[in-house]
Amino acid sequence: MAKKLWGTRFGKKTNALTDKFTSSISFDQRLAKYDILGSIAHVKMLGKQKIIPLKDSQQIVKGLNALLKDVISGKFKFDPGAEDIHSNIQELLVKKIGEPAHKLHTARSRNDQVALDIKMYLKSEIADLVEYISQLQKSILKLARVNSKVVIPGYTHLQVAQPVLLSHHLLSYIEGLERDKERILDAKARIDSMPLGACAFSGTGLPIDREFVRKELDFKTVTANSIDSVSDRDFILEVLAQLTILSVHLSRIAEDLILWSTKEFNFIDIDFSFCTGSSIMPHKKNPDILELIRGSVGKIHGDLSSVMILMKGLPSSYNRDLQMDKPPLFDAVDTMKDILEILVALFQNIVIEKEAIAGKVQDESLFSVDIVEYLIKKGVSYRKAHDIVGKIVRDCLDKGKKISSLSDTELKRYSDKLDPDVRDILNAWASVSRKLSIGSTNPAFVAKQIDRWGKKLN
Ligand code: ARG
Repeated sequence: MAKKLWGTRFGKKTNALTDKFTSSISFDQRLAKYDILGSIAHVKMLGKQKIIPLKDSQQIVKGLNALLKDVISGKFKFDPGAEDIHSNIQELLVKKIGEPAHKLHTARSRNDQVALDIKMYLKSEIADLVEYISQLQKSILKLARVNSKVVIPGYTHLQVAQPVLLSHHLLSYIEGLERDKERILDAKARIDSMPLGACAFSGTGLPIDREFVRKELDFKTVTANSIDSVSDRDFILEVLAQLTILSVHLSRIAEDLILWSTKEFNFIDIDFSFCTGSSIMPHKKNPDILELIRGSVGKIHGDLSSVMILMKGLPSSYNRDLQMDKPPLFDAVDTMKDILEILVALFQNIVIEKEAIAGKVQDESLFSVDIVEYLIKKGVSYRKAHDIVGKIVRDCLDKGKKISSLSDTELKRYSDKLDPDVRDILNAWASVSRKLSIGSTNPAFVAKQIDRWGKKLN
């Protein structure tokens, strides 16, 4: 194992098992870029404040910039024997520039350093996630726009309910995703507080300038309490909770699409390039991508639980348990980015089965509420109208008849308010067009919503 930042105090070497068990380099190496950027800002400040000689500070910045270049180009050789990424970079800096490197860690601890690294990582990842969600919204909006005239049977309890515009259904996804975006951006506001300068947990007696570091690293504020700065990971919990909610939304979308792609529903066809086959049943075309998206809720929620339970019962200030926040956080972020990336592409590879859908909205039981509302408009009470239509539906089902095939006299037998014009409302387009309430599936309202989203997302 490489030389420890704290090695001198120990009279002997640590056991190899200790090194292996406590090391985090295998996963925290992905914080390298942020660790170096944070160090550059810190050491510039040390020079400016004359805590270390300016020329040492400049030399350290030069060395760190060279390391940063290696990290970005992929040339950086991580030392599997390093205790963590912070030690690894410190050691490489010593190799690169010699003695001045030993001044970098002045007025700093790995405790505030690691909190800073994760916050910088998250600020960048949140920007990516938000962009991906917008891409997905745009992809869904496009499908809604080109199919704006398609009416599908809508479902409650997974039983056929009422006709709705397909585009109305698709826009419901965009609404939820927008709230996900808002939630994640809201978390970002709280992440945007710079912890460096808290040092181990109590601050420092050296004349540091935290405000300078804040500006260098483009944070909104500096943290106000040094103990809080190194203790808390609520900002990670928040992001994980929001990713969990987002994953639940995505699993619902996936589930809808899985159902819609079945032979039984046949609302959509997903291109072969986004499906998989069966090793035994040659006829199969399976929506495995969507199933894996649905399944990922478990993984992401697991990541949230993992950090939540890790935090529970921790005493204040830094504890090594906190090292274990990173694998679940990285896993959730990576998983979500993968999901969003493929779902954007999948939406571009969906064909709407318009003819099959048109066949399904011939089912006149879909219009039962429309007939109830027709009667209410003619002065019949809601209760009575419900009973009348209930009787019509029951009789038609029993006799295998269509409501539209009932004669004028037959209609009148159910209610003297049922005139021949009731037949005009027994079609899907009439049904959605009769909706008047704000937010309903009325085609004029939905067209406005499509317009609004088009403007908002561009
Ligand atoms: N690897 C540690 C983590 O991820 C870094 C901080 C270690 N600090 C310490 N005093 N041991 O949390």
